Amino acid sequence: MIVLGIETSCDETAAAVVRDGRETLSNAVRSQAASHAPYGGVVPDIAARQHVDALAPVIGQAMREAGLAWDRLDAVAATCGPGLSSSLLIGLAAGQALARRLGRPLYAVNHVEAHLYSPFLAAGRSAFERACPCVALIVSGGHTLLALAEAPGRYRLLGQTLDDAAGEALDKAAIALGLGYPGGPAIEQASQGGDPRRIAFPRARPRRPNPFLGTMDPDFCFSFSGLKTALIYWLKAHPFADGADRRERLPSVAASFQEAIVAALCDRCQRAVRKTGVATLIAGGGVTLNARLREALAALARNNNVELRLAAPAFCGDNAAMIAALAGIGLGQPVAGACDANPSLALGAA
Ligand code: KG4
Ligand code: ZN
Repeated sequence: MIVLGIETSCDETAAAVVRDGRETLSNAVRSQAASHAPYGGVVPDIAARQHVDALAPVIGQAMREAGLAWDRLDAVAATCGPGLSSSLLIGLAAGQALARRLGRPLYAVNHVEAHLYSPFLAAGRSAFERACPCVALIVSGGHTLLALAEAPGRYRLLGQTLDDAAGEALDKAAIALGLGYPGGPAIEQASQGGDPRRIAFPRARPRRPNPFLGTMDPDFCFSFSGLKTALIYWLKAHPFADGADRRERLPSVAASFQEAIVAALCDRCQRAVRKTGVATLIAGGGVTLNARLREALAALARNNNVELRLAAPAFCGDNAAMIAALAGIGLGQPVAGACDANPSLALGAA
């Protein structure tokens, strides 16, 4: 089954063609980062307008790079949530129009579930089935959660962030440090040569009672907003004196902040792996591009004798290959009539 996937949940306009949920024939992504950079974060109205402009050329690029005629497509898939409502609607409307024009089915795909499948993108559904049950860490600018994948399509949310997502905390910290947007790669670069133990930023762990926990186990939940505030206060107390002082101290500040995030992510992953007794840990989402996080997760997996599967770099950040792939392995929702975006679509929800 050859699927054209469309992804417009946030600020990446993406289209990709994937065969049988595992063979990526093309994977086109157009980033809007430069347009949002002056604002230090994604501006929904700008994102939606740019999707309108970029989507047709990006779809054209994906089809050209796949080297296929339109009639070779068996289906179209588009992200229906979670994400920014106005951005999601543009990808969905385009998918719907295209599917109707081609006389092919349209599948609506859950963005978080697609990130969850992304470590298996080159291996396929059977590799995903064999890895289950596994603990999945999804960590991006919009999401930070741990889920137990019992089988493809069957997930249990173990815990999530009670405030900021890890990528969001990195993005906000980068603004405070004058490093620009997006913050994750900027902080990773700034931390080169720095000492991650120089500053003891707080590694908060949610505890009961906490009204945001609900029925979630605090051992599997995250909180990053206090860490961001700690950085802001630290910078007020220890301002950079001049350019030379900044050049000298910035690497250790950035490395210490990044390490606090990595440590929190790994701590919760370890608790989840131990408590559930699974044999496999998987991870996806934009923050898993971070080399220090990849290295720390690999060490965690070795120490706990579990297998680690990380998404390949091309499939970590938002992309449409993971959307096409999810539909290709039968996990998209067929759209019969009207299809609405759901900005807060939960993992496992239809
Ligand atoms: O998955 P993604 O592209 O979009 C969402 O679904 O949110 O993730 C974007 C996030 C941003 O917060 C960005 O700062 C972060 O991923 N990110 C990184 C790195 N590259 C991107 N974080 C840490 N290290 C990186 N190298
Ligand atoms: Zn994402």
